[in-house]
Amino acid sequence: MRILIATSEAYPLIKTGGLADVSGSLADALRKQAVDARILIPGYPQVLAKTKDLEPIQRLDFIPQVGSVTLLQGTMPDRGTPVYVLDHPYLYRREGGPYQDMMGRDWADNPLRFGVLSHVAAVMSSGHSPLEWKPDIVHCNDWQTGLTPAILHYFGTSRAKTVLGIHNLAYQGNFAPEWVTLLGLPPHSYQIEGVEYYGQMSFLKAGVYYADAIITVSPTYAKEIQTDEYGCGMQGLLKTRARVLRGILNGIDTREWNPAIDPYLVRNYDIDRIGDKQANKEALQLRLDLDVDPHAPLLAVVSRLAYQKGLDLLLACASTLVHEGAQIVLLGSGDPALEFGFNQLHKAHPGRVSVTIGYSESLSHQIMAGSDIFLMPSRFEPCGLNQMYGLAYGTPPVVRRTGGLADSVHDACETNLESGKATGFVFEHANEAEFLTCIRRAVGTFEDKKTWRKLQTNGMRQDLSWTRSAKEYLEVYRSLLQ
Ligand code: ADP
Ligand code: GLC
Repeated sequence: MRILIATSEAYPLIKTGGLADVSGSLADALRKQAVDARILIPGYPQVLAKTKDLEPIQRLDFIPQVGSVTLLQGTMPDRGTPVYVLDHPYLYRREGGPYQDMMGRDWADNPLRFGVLSHVAAVMSSGHSPLEWKPDIVHCNDWQTGLTPAILHYFGTSRAKTVLGIHNLAYQGNFAPEWVTLLGLPPHSYQIEGVEYYGQMSFLKAGVYYADAIITVSPTYAKEIQTDEYGCGMQGLLKTRARVLRGILNGIDTREWNPAIDPYLVRNYDIDRIGDKQANKEALQLRLDLDVDPHAPLLAVVSRLAYQKGLDLLLACASTLVHEGAQIVLLGSGDPALEFGFNQLHKAHPGRVSVTIGYSESLSHQIMAGSDIFLMPSRFEPCGLNQMYGLAYGTPPVVRRTGGLADSVHDACETNLESGKATGFVFEHANEAEFLTCIRRAVGTFEDKKTWRKLQTNGMRQDLSWTRSAKEYLEVYRSLLQ
């Protein structure tokens, strides 16, 4: 089976969030199941620098608006997954992020940048492809490649089956209607039964409408997005597509996220040596100028600072928690108001609160290992990976019951504690009072060392591997090819 994973980010080449982790790991896990999975990604400077053995293999002509582009082929560092890099210096070789410039503003020509990516994925998956390697399935991810199923539909040639992976329905890629023809779609595709969405053309809606199958990243989120509360306007359409919509919980890459071999830790540990986690706590407190205190419950956040993540709830109750003896460590960036708020919090509580605004792979691993309790009060969370990293690192998470958080964390209620199922702490509603109560419950359990150890080991034993998820993806692919 040949699968083309078309994506705007893939770890370790380029990453802004979980999508990158998933694209990189899914390809790798599928290859372990003897699937010929390959990645297509834009040639951002980081991708050109990190992909191994890159060589130009094909010029593709007739790409709307830009004429021709060059496809390079190489491999993922460390993993060997084949990677097709879409090279177009003007569109992708820029300083800044994949979606935004250095000032955090969306690139004005994003519809063109990702329209071209979607178009190239479509060409590679159609009868028009000049390449020898032709996929059976093109697996698109989020709005950035959401247009591919629509373009393939209008090519009218033989084509691969299409899968749309939805990692976050809140980002839809909605643009002015002029983009329909600029991106080579026929004018009549701009209608309700097509790419039109509330007066705009929508990349994500196009994918939801035309894909042969839709996969979202947890079973609960698959249900939630069919409701008014979580559907971001697409609930109606998603309901009509429910027959081809399925939720598959993401896995975690156990080579990258494994406390027994993690190179960023001062001391590695596993289920039989959880005591060694303590050395990582001390090192973290030292590194971040926190009071070195083995008994203070160390609460942690590593996150994009966005409304979705509900971290305003933490800001609201953080001082109370500090007065009750907790320490807080946060690594993240995003919303300037939240960045400001957390910086103020740090100033108010030196030695008790550490705030790092920015992005750091190494610190994120050290926080996961060195902290006691991981916080994720998300308003919505399609899957969430950090809570799973927390489980694997013996750092039980406090999460809101939504999306993948609901599917991956089992509350430490009486029944779950007795049955050995409990792995963390779950609360229902996104408000400060419930969040605070839940954190207090976690801190209370943290002080009961025996129960805490049980909770840690339950989480560390949970099968979070990609092998499990990859098998479910295979089922979907197989059913499409039958
Ligand atoms: P999302 O994709 O919505 O941001 P996920 O929990 O699925 O949420 O994935 C987030 C990923 O990005 C995790 O791998 C997390 O460790 C990483 N991450 C987020 N913010 C930072 C940061 N500031 N520094 C390092 N890693 C981060
Ligand atoms: C998105 C979601 C996150 C999910 C990730 C990978 O960024 O916000 O919940 O884990 O995609 O699927």
